Order: sequence, then C-alpha cells, then structure tokens
Amino acid sequence: MSSLFAKYDIPAPRYTSYPTVPYWESAPTHDQWIQHLKLSLKESTDSWSLYLHIPYCETLCTFCGCNNIITKDHNREEPYVNMVLKEWELYLNQVEELRQRPLKHLHLGGGTPTFLSPANLKRLLEPIINAVKLADHFEGSIEVDPRRTTREQLIVLKELGFNRISLGVQDFNFEVQRLVNRIQPFEITQKITTEARELGFTSVNFDLIYGMAKQTPETMKECVEKTILLRPDRIALYSFALVPWIKPAQRLFKDEDLPVGKQKRDLYELSRTMLLNAGYVEVGMDHFALPTDSLSIALKNKSLHRNFMGYTDQKTNVLLGLGVSSISESLYSFHQNEKVLASYQLKLDENQIPTHRGHVLTEEDKKRRAQILEFMTQGSVQLASDQENNAKEFLTEMLEDGLVKISDHQLILTDAGKPFLRNACLFFDERLKKVKPSTQVFSKSL
Ligand SMILES: C[S@@+](CC[C@H](N)C(=O)[O-])C[C@H]1O[C@@H](n2cnc3c(N)ncnc32)[C@H](O)[C@@H]1O
Ligand code: SF4
Repeated sequence: MSSLFAKYDIPAPRYTSYPTVPYWESAPTHDQWIQHLKLSLKESTDSWSLYLHIPYCETLCTFCGCNNIITKDHNREEPYVNMVLKEWELYLNQVEELRQRPLKHLHLGGGTPTFLSPANLKRLLEPIINAVKLADHFEGSIEVDPRRTTREQLIVLKELGFNRISLGVQDFNFEVQRLVNRIQPFEITQKITTEARELGFTSVNFDLIYGMAKQTPETMKECVEKTILLRPDRIALYSFALVPWIKPAQRLFKDEDLPVGKQKRDLYELSRTMLLNAGYVEVGMDHFALPTDSLSIALKNKSLHRNFMGYTDQKTNVLLGLGVSSISESLYSFHQNEKVLASYQLKLDENQIPTHRGHVLTEEDKKRRAQILEFMTQGSVQLASDQENNAKEFLTEMLEDGLVKISDHQLILTDAGKPFLRNACLFFDERLKKVKPSTQVFSKSL
C-alpha cells in the first residue's frame, strides 16, 4: 500500500467545482449573471442556498488556508454587515425569484462568523430571513470558533431558526495546537457542544485536520478518542493543505515537522478505523456522520450533493454567496466576489454587484461537471460510449492497482480506491488535461 501512496500523492483538485477555479475563463456579464440566477430558479419547485462570508478572525491560526482578515477591532463589524446587506438588496431588487423560491440552506462561514456580536448577527440575518420563503426542512448552519463563541450568540442564532453548528477543533493535542497558534482546551469545545445541544441545535459538526506538524498516530488517537467522547453528529476530517500564503515567518512549525506520504495517510486510516468502530459512516471524501444524520441518510438514498461548501444533503440549483470573496454557482455559471475588502466595498458603493471573476459553463463543462459530481457523491458514474476506451487508457494504472473498475459501462471506485478519489476524477477533467498548470495550484491529493 505504501508504494500506492507514493505513486498517487500528486497535486489534484478537490473538485468542489468543475471547472476548478484556476480554469475559469471569463465571468458572466452582469446581465448574464442575473439571467442565470433567474433561469436556474424559474420552476416553482426550484430552490436555492445562501452562503454569507464573515472574513474576520481575532488571531491567526498558522495552518489556515481560509480567506480571512485578522483584527481585534470590533468596530469593523457594523460597516461590514452594512456591505453584505447592501449586496443582498442589489440581488433582491433584480432577482425576485429569491423571494419566491424556497431557501433550503443558509450557511454562515468565514473567517469567524462569531466575530459578530449577537446584535450584529441579528442585524445581518433578520432582514434576509424575513425577505425570503424558508423551505419546509430549512437548515441554518454556522461555522464557529469555540474560543470565540458565547451562549448569547447561540441563543440569537437559535431564535433565527439555525439548527446546525460546526465547531473548528482541528486537533485536541496541546503541542499540535501550540505549533499552529490555536490553544483550545478540550473543555471549551465540550462547553460549546453541550450548550448548542441544550439550546436545541440538532446537528453538531467538528472540523479536524490530519497531516499537521507533529501529529503522530498517538496524538491522532487522542484527538479522535476525545472527539468520539463528545459524539458530534458529523466530522469533517480534512487533509492538511499547505498553501503558499501560509508564510514561514508566521508559523512555529517547520516543513520537516509535517507528516507526508504514507505517514500522513496512516493518520487518516487510523482515524477512519476508530470512527467506523465508533459507529460513524464514511460519507464521502473526508466526511463522516452518525447513521442517523441526514448526510448518512442522503448517502444511502443516493441523494448526496456537493458544492463549494463540501458535501451536503441540500441539493439546490443556486448557491448564492454574499460577502467579500464569496463564490456563487448557478446551473449555467460560477461567480466570485471581489477578494479584497476595499474593492468589494468600492463596487458596492457604486451600486454594482462586486464581481471579481467567474465562468460561464460550456455544454462540455456541464457534462463533465455532472459526471464528477456523480462520481464524488455516489462512487460510480455512467461512461458515455466514446469515453470508455479513453478511461481504460487514462486510468490503466488505477485499474491495474484495483482502485477503480469498469463494469457495465460504469466507472466504479473500489473500497481500496477511496483514498484516491481525487486522482480518479482527473480523468473527467478535460481542461486540466489540455493545459497543465504552470505552477502548483492544487494541494497534493492525499
Ligand atoms: C473557516 S474555518 C472554521 C471556522 C472557524 N474560523 C474556526 O477556526 O473554528 C473552516 C475550516 O477549514 C479547515 N482548514 C482551514 N485551513 C486548512 C488547511 N490549510 N488545510 C486543511 N483544512 C483547513 C479547518 O478545519 C477549519 O475549521
Ligand atoms: S482556522 Fe478559523 S479562526 Fe483560525 S485563522 Fe482560519 S478562519 Fe480564522
């Protein structure tokens, strides 16, 4: 197995979109983008999801690859909330379908959404929730940093209809925490988990990371044991991605401290075994859930979906992202907001949708996108008649190594192939095959 890890540990996208962001060509024009949203929501049965990005964090965790702004200045809350509400108004005035079609999922991500005070959370969310039609099984979810979350914030969120909470944990081991500038005692995570449950949040998720500095089988075992003790409904076990903007000067760990290749993969396998033994289901790449959780049920019912936010059981035609750097998707295109706060604000001041970049899907993109989505969520996908021979050629080694198989014109991921899902997806990525990236833009696949 170790030689397989050496062979397949190559840069590969995570495929939260296809085409992947580095391969986006040109953004839809303003009118096209509005039209794409309207067309994606034209049927009364169509639904949508909303993502709100809050970029601020009080301190920097030096492993972090998220789009964030580090500040302790809470005077920035109010102007930022105003900007997002302004952006929301711009959409609402042009896409009346956002009022008419059910909103299935509202997610607050970051940065740290609980950087906002209870009052500002309410000021941001109330006008949005009041303007739309919530779906029958509406889900409101938030990513929180347990170190910066209060009971008052949870109460406000619960009152606004939020029912899911995701806690950034990363690792429970003190030394690992110290090296990434994120000291978070077990008791803090335990307190927020308990409080959220007491207040009626029905689903608690933990984010964990494997492959960080000084993580060993022993520290990982400790981390997963403590996780199991608190029994979150869902667990995202992310592969540590060393991204270029994590500057050596900001971190206490050295590259040599990072487990790589088989060493790193063993940390995942150890955690996976422990979680399966504790009754969790492996839902998809890096995701686990209790059998009673809606993600596990969606996996069983073959209704699992995946978008920029990762695996979800809420399949919608539109994911609208508001806030600096947020990404949106429709049936016809992708769209990303300005990534720099000053540019985001400038465009809003001029009453413009703050477009930074995007991509209008070609017919070929749509087919590939659908196949990658199906393969990533179901572990198998029908091949078109002209694809089968190409698949046999492109995936020769993976077929020989028993990681995928082709049967009845279907490409199927085997159990042994699960760690190599991203590698198999490369077959569908026509754009990457045509133009190889000139620099490393994707993290390693394992
Ligand atoms: C926006 S953060 C979570 C919310 C909150 N700011 C916190 O830290 O608790 C989203 C998640 O992305 C994951 N993440 C961030 N940087 C990562 C990296 N370089 N590699 C892998 N996962 C990463 C972490 O698990 C983190 O909890
Ligand atoms: S992990 Fe969360 S709190 Fe830490 S820097 Fe990243 S977004 Fe901010």
